[in-house]
Amino acid sequence: METLLDCATALTRRIEARTARLAIIGQGYVGLPLAVEFAAMGFRVTGLDSDPARVATLAHGQSCTPDVTSVELTALLREGRYEASTDFGVLERSDVVIICVPTPLRKSKDPDISFVVAAVEAVAAGFRRGQLVVLESTTYPGTTEELVLPMFKARGARIGEDLFLAFSPERIDPGNSVFRARDIPKVVGGVTPACTRLASALYRTVVPGVQEVSSPRVAELVKLYENVFRNVNIALANEFALMCQRLEVSTKEVIDAAATKPFGFMAFYPGPGIGGHCIPVDPLYLSWKMRLNGYEARFIALADEINRAMPRHVLTMVSEALNDMGRPLMCARILVLGVAYKRGVSDTRESPAQEIINALRRRGADVVYADPHVPSFPVEETTLKAIDVTQEVLRWADCVLILTDHPEFDFQRILETARLVVDTRNATCGLTLAGRVVRL
Ligand SMILES: NC(=O)c1ccc[n+]([C@@H]2O[C@H](COP(=O)([O-])OP(=O)(O)OC[C@H]3O[C@@H](n4cnc5c(N)ncnc54)[C@H](O)[C@@H]3O)[C@@H](O)[C@H]2O)c1
Repeated sequence: METLLDCATALTRRIEARTARLAIIGQGYVGLPLAVEFAAMGFRVTGLDSDPARVATLAHGQSCTPDVTSVELTALLREGRYEASTDFGVLERSDVVIICVPTPLRKSKDPDISFVVAAVEAVAAGFRRGQLVVLESTTYPGTTEELVLPMFKARGARIGEDLFLAFSPERIDPGNSVFRARDIPKVVGGVTPACTRLASALYRTVVPGVQEVSSPRVAELVKLYENVFRNVNIALANEFALMCQRLEVSTKEVIDAAATKPFGFMAFYPGPGIGGHCIPVDPLYLSWKMRLNGYEARFIALADEINRAMPRHVLTMVSEALNDMGRPLMCARILVLGVAYKRGVSDTRESPAQEIINALRRRGADVVYADPHVPSFPVEETTLKAIDVTQEVLRWADCVLILTDHPEFDFQRILETARLVVDTRNATCGLTLAGRVVRL
C-alpha cells in the first residue's frame, strides 16, 4: 500500500511529466479555456459537462467562448489531448478534478450553491485514493471547508492523506486578448499544506506564477475582494457620472485627466449598469456570508444599489433627450446597439440591456437591436432578433442607444447618420458630431 508521501509524490511526478489525467467539470467561459490550456501543455483532459448540447458542440470542435478558437479546439480534439463528455464515469479514472460550475444567485439574492453540490457529489461518489480536487467556482468564504470537505469525509476520504482538496479562484476576463488564462497568476489555498503544494504544482505547469495562501478560505476571499473592488469602483464612477451630468462636465474628460497620475489612481468608467456572471453576483456571496456572521457589508450594499439604479437612469436620459427633440418616448423608434454585458463578448447574463429594453417597450417605444455577437435576445413577452446597422435603420430611428461598445460598430458612420445618439459607453468621444449626442 502506498504511504501518504508516496501518494503525493506519485501525483506530483505525474503532473510534472504531464501524464496526469485531468477532468474539468463545467465547460463554459471558465472551464473550457482552462481545459484547453492544460491540453495545450501536454495533458490529456476530459471536459465534462451536464449539458449534452454543449458537449456535442465542443465534440465537433466548435468553441463556445471568445477565449478559445474553434481551430485550436479542433487540433486538440484531433491529437486526442482534449475530449468533451457527459460521462461522469471518467472521474474515477482521473488524477485531477477541477470544478468550474456556475454559482448564481437565487431570486432572493442568496447564493445558489446547488451546481457546486451536484458536481462535488459526483466526484465524491467515486473518489479514488491519491486524487487532487480543486474548486474554481467563485463562492462565499468557507465553501471548501464547510461544504465540500464534509461531503468527501462522509465518503471516507482522509483529506491531505488519500485525497487532496484545494480552492483556486478563476480570474479570467473573457474576451480579453491581452491577459488570457495562461497570463494570469493563480492563487491557491489547500486544506492542508500537502493539498496546497499539489495544487500549486498543477497550476505552475500552465501559468506564470502561483501565489500560495494559508487556507481555502483566504483564496475564496481573494477572489471576492477583487470583484468587490471592481464593483465598488464601477459604482463610484457611475455616481460620479451623475454628479458630472448635473455640473455639465464631461465625466470621461475628468477621469482621463485623473488617469495621467502615475500612482494611486486606477481609471474606472461609468456604464448603463453591471452585467455578467461575476461583478453583479460575487459581492452578494460575501455580504450573504457576512450577514450570517452578524455584519452588514455596507460598501457592497451601496455599490449594488447605485449600479442597479443605472438602467433607470439610462431610461431617463433617453426620455429627456427625445423630449428635447420634441418626441415622446411613447411610439419612439429606438435602435439599441449592443445587448451583451460588455464589448467583444456574446454573454448576456445579467446584462442591463434586458431591463432597459423591457422598460422602453413597456412605455410604448418601438425597440430594435443590433449586436454582432448576439443573434437573438429574449425580452418580456417575445424574443427580439438582431438586425444590421444599415443606413435605413439609422435614419428610421428617433434615437440610437449605445449600450455595448462592440468594436464591430462603426460609430463615426452612426454619428453621421443618426438624429439622436445616447451614448452610455463613451464610444463616440473624439469623433466628429453631426446630430445630437448625449453621453453618460
Ligand atoms: N465568466 C467569467 O467571466 C468568470 C470569471 C471568473 C470566474 N467565474 C466563475 O466561474 C464559475 C463558472 O462560470 P462560467 O462563466 O464558466 O459559467 P458557464 O455557465 O459559462 O459554464 C458553466 C458550465 O457548467 C455546466 N454545469 C453546470 N452544472 C454542472 C454539473 N453538475 N456537472 C457538469 N457540468 C455542469 C453548465 O452546463 C455550463 O456549461 C462561476 O463560479 C463563476 O462565478 C466566471
